[in-house]
Amino acid sequence: MDARTSYGGARTASTPSTVLVTGGAGFIGSHACVDLLDHGYEVIVVDDYSNSTPQVLTRVERIAGRFVGAVYELDIRDRRALSAVFDRHSVDAVVHFAAHKAVGESTRMPVQYYDTNVGGTTSLLSVMHEHRVHQLVFSSSCAVYGDTGGGPLAETTPARPTNPYATSKWLCEQILADVCRYWPQFAVLCLRYFNPAGAHPSGLLGEDPGGVPDNLMPYVAQVAVGRRERLRVFGGDYPTPDGTAIRDYLHVMDTVEAHRVALDHLADAPGMRVFNLGTGTGSSVLDVVTAFGSACGRAIPYEIVGRRPGDVAELVADASAVARAWGWRPTRDLAAMCRDAWHFQQLNPRGYAGSARRPSGEE
Ligand code: NAD
Ligand code: WQD
Repeated sequence: MDARTSYGGARTASTPSTVLVTGGAGFIGSHACVDLLDHGYEVIVVDDYSNSTPQVLTRVERIAGRFVGAVYELDIRDRRALSAVFDRHSVDAVVHFAAHKAVGESTRMPVQYYDTNVGGTTSLLSVMHEHRVHQLVFSSSCAVYGDTGGGPLAETTPARPTNPYATSKWLCEQILADVCRYWPQFAVLCLRYFNPAGAHPSGLLGEDPGGVPDNLMPYVAQVAVGRRERLRVFGGDYPTPDGTAIRDYLHVMDTVEAHRVALDHLADAPGMRVFNLGTGTGSSVLDVVTAFGSACGRAIPYEIVGRRPGDVAELVADASAVARAWGWRPTRDLAAMCRDAWHFQQLNPRGYAGSARRPSGEE
């Protein structure tokens, strides 16, 4: 276990609390660290760098102008190492991002997905309970809804996960609900994100998938920067206005702001609450192609190919519950997501230089 000492940074007397961020070097976790540091939180990161690089945290500190309190390179399933972190720091709440997240990969490696995503969560919960830390924000996913047949998806929509990744998130939610039922000290907020996209406006942080990107926005960004020849649009025959599939893209900065708001509301009530994080606005693949073309000033070459197995025509959030509960709404649109993703891609055409890649990562 590698601990970094605190540099002191710019903590003030008004710093509200200490938050442990699992997966803090990842795409969403790194943006969350910046946002939390910007808002006076003390941040402790644990990450095994299985899908990230320590360099990201240096950038986090550069943007925030403050230092992360401590960084531990560890696998959250290693209870002894995780416990030592809680021994060392007085943690008030945990934001739990660490997981494997690729749907396709989960169908090839189901056991690893359950092991990391479910086993990692149970390990974290037991260590938290031992250390009397009972406040948790959990990264869930719209993937739990599965193939719903379209229409805005409210949190009451029954979960029908269709792949091991989605099932792992649904299992975590059920475990968390049980934990809250039988250990009533716990307060848990499960946030089901739709499609986080974009990057930090500084261009220093963004989405840097190893190998060929699975997700649309980083793929389009790599086409725009000339790393890939053209986008393959999976399916032009969906029952949507332009024939391409519709998703609810949410700026990563809006995504992480919602986590900070969630932290502020954890103490409102014990037990588990679930909220969608989305904009409620659907964009088709061709909408994204057009918006990105405007952002980068050149047309994105694409060809329409067959549908990707497992894809559905439309996934859009009913995002009204979180707005009603906390008055929180996303403020950034698709143009901002494309602008910021492009800025990151321009400044980092090959991603985080020297980053550790998954061994299977293909360039
Ligand atoms: P990411 O892969 O960029 O970040 C995950 C981080 O967790 C990485 O830094 C990785 O090294 C770390 N990690 C993985 N396994 C670990 C382990 N066993 N111990 C310690 N660290 C470990 O992914 P992301 O896009 O930032 O996603 C963060 C969370 O949000 C995940 O739980 C994911 O399932 C969820 N989510 C993501 C999306 C999306 O589209 N990005 C959508 C919905 C939900
Ligand atoms: C978006 C649209 C593709 C790539 C995934 C996970 C989901 C959640 C969010 C974690 C689809 C199309 C894509 C390409 C394309 N993640 N596409 N060409 O599949 O909606 O959701 O990320 O929880 O669980 O499944 O996102 O970005 O992969 O695809 O045409 O090269 O873009 O078919 O319609 P998806 P995505």
